[in-house]
Amino acid sequence: MKKVVLGSLIVVLSSCSGGKNSTGFSIINDMMYSEAYEAQTVNNVFDNGQTNQLAPKGTVARGFKPHPMDDEGNPIVLKNPHVMTDYAWERGKMLFEATCSACHGTKGKADGLVVLEGGFPKPPSFSARKWKKAKKYPSGYVYNVITFGYGNMASHAQQLYPKDRWYVSEFVREKLMKKKKRK
Ligand code: HEC
Repeated sequence: MKKVVLGSLIVVLSSCSGGKNSTGFSIINDMMYSEAYEAQTVNNVFDNGQTNQLAPKGTVARGFKPHPMDDEGNPIVLKNPHVMTDYAWERGKMLFEATCSACHGTKGKADGLVVLEGGFPKPPSFSARKWKKAKKYPSGYVYNVITFGYGNMASHAQQLYPKDRWYVSEFVREKLMKKKKRK
């Protein structure tokens, strides 16, 4: 009995030596040392010798749906797949004011501070006559401008999720591009 106690005491104590960051004495090493490679390092496992690999051709990131394109590679104008609830209108308005109004102005009259004070090229006013043509410029048109950018305006796909882009697009289309007073 004494031998067993002494023996286990030695094992227990010897595994504590070496301070906080030491893995101590180990018999089976498999899980002590990680075999994972660091990103941005050389790697002999792959033919191109690097750890970071590109996604295989033709694959799509989870949760990401590519925008359908026509034969010339231009984005197809889609229809809003989401129901516009009161919440959706409110959110569209809120996100327009947060993401777009710095240039376009809260009423879409191209009088945002970035334009007036910052000297950024002036966007077209959303109350211009041409935008009344809802058939030619549906919410899907605005959606594509947000997603891919247009001329001097960069893509805002990084700032807004696809669903929120639709909410903003509907708000711009229905509340700013029409004569109707805003809700
Ligand atoms: C940094 C300033 C800036 C921000 C922010 C911005 N825009 Fe623009 N936008 C522009 C400019 C400048 C143009 C005109 C581009 C051109 O004609 O070269 C434009 C053009 C547009 C057009 C008209 C495109 C056309 O066919 O003439 C729409 C629609 C539009 N923006 C929507 C939005 C929406 C929606 C947002 C917010 C998600 C947004 N913009 C954010 C600067 C901005």
